[in-house]
Parts: sequence; C-alpha cells; structure tokens
Amino acid sequence: MKVRHSRRSYDPDKVVHQEEINMLIEDARLSPSCFGDEPWRYIICNKQSNQNSLKDLLSCLTEPNQNWIKNAQVLIISLSSKNFRKPDKGKNFWAKHDTGAANYALILLAASMNLTAHQMSGFDRNKIEEKFNIPGDFNIMSVMAVVYAEEVTEIKKKARRPIKEIFFYD
Ligand SMILES: Cc1cc2nc3c(=O)[nH]c(=O)nc-3n(C[C@H](O)[C@H](O)[C@H](O)COP(=O)(O)O)c2cc1C
Repeated sequence: MKVRHSRRSYDPDKVVHQEEINMLIEDARLSPSCFGDEPWRYIICNKQSNQNSLKDLLSCLTEPNQNWIKNAQVLIISLSSKNFRKPDKGKNFWAKHDTGAANYALILLAASMNLTAHQMSGFDRNKIEEKFNIPGDFNIMSVMAVVYAEEVTEIKKKARRPIKEIFFYD
C-alpha cells in the first residue's frame, strides 16, 4: 500500500479516539492464524484513559525513539504467544508470522484513516516485561505508536530492493 509510511512527523495534538482504536484492533483481531490459534495479544496505552501507563511505556523505548515519539497519545505493545493454546500442539512456529500479519492489518487500516501506526523494535525488552507483567510464554514483537499523520505535500518514493532480487519465477 503506497500511502502507508512509518512517518516520524505527526500531529501531537490530534486525539486518537477510542472509536478509532476499536476499529484498528478489530482488524487485527480478525486476522488469519495457523490453526485459528490467534497467538497475538495487545496492551494498549492511551493517554486519554491512563497517562501513567503511557509514560511507563515511553520510558521503555530507546532514547532516539523517545525523542521523536514522546508526544504520541497512543502506544500499543504487540505480543506473540510462544505456544499453541492446545497443550498437545506444543510450540507455535507460526505465532510471530501471524502476529506480524495481524499488526499489518491494523497498520493498513490506520493508513486508510490518515493515521500512522509506526512499529518500533527499539525498546528495552526486560523493562517492558517487568513493568507490564508480561507472562514468560509471550514474546514482545513491537511497540506501535498510533498517531495522526501530519499533512504531507509530497509522498516520498520508497527505497526498496528491486523486484528481481526478491521475487523468483519458476
Ligand atoms: C519490526 C519493526 C521495527 C521497527 N523499529 C523501528 C524503531 O525502533 N524506530 C523507528 O523509528 N522505526 C522503526 N521501524 C520502522 C522502519 O524503519 C520502517 O518500516 C522502514 O524504514 C520502512 O519504511 P516505511 O515503513 O515508511 O515503508 C520498524 C519497523 C518494523 C517493521
């Protein structure tokens, strides 16, 4: 989707309403998953409902990330279960794949709503695990900032590997 970008410029004053968050999380919830296991979990920190949890999560990000995202109103931790729900199925090899796909469903819907859902891996894993009581059978996959994109006059062309380096026929 060409209009989706992980922008670092956003409107810090524009409130992301709970109704909008509900729409985003519904698309993640409806994502496909191996054996229908739904291995993803999300922790939503919203300034509107709890300033402290948002501050706590911000403090877990790397300094460069804190610098650009400190005025965000909504941050979301995405987690992926290490095991299938049914104990006899054991480790869920596809859980990270499925959680990434669910995240992307949320991100694409956000882009269509003029929101930016920007994923970050720059965070202190141990700190998040401790502050947010993450159970040991979950991996933290990303922290997503959900912000209103600033008006852009020019869409930058994405720098990407050429098609022939990625896709192979026959
Ligand atoms: C798993 C993951 C982790 C990322 N971590 C960070 C991060 O810590 N900080 C940041 O500013 N951007 C982060 N990004 C954004 C990427 O830098 C960005 O997606 C990439 O440069 C491509 O740009 P685009 O998303 O605008 O197409 C991350 C993206 C992903 C998918």
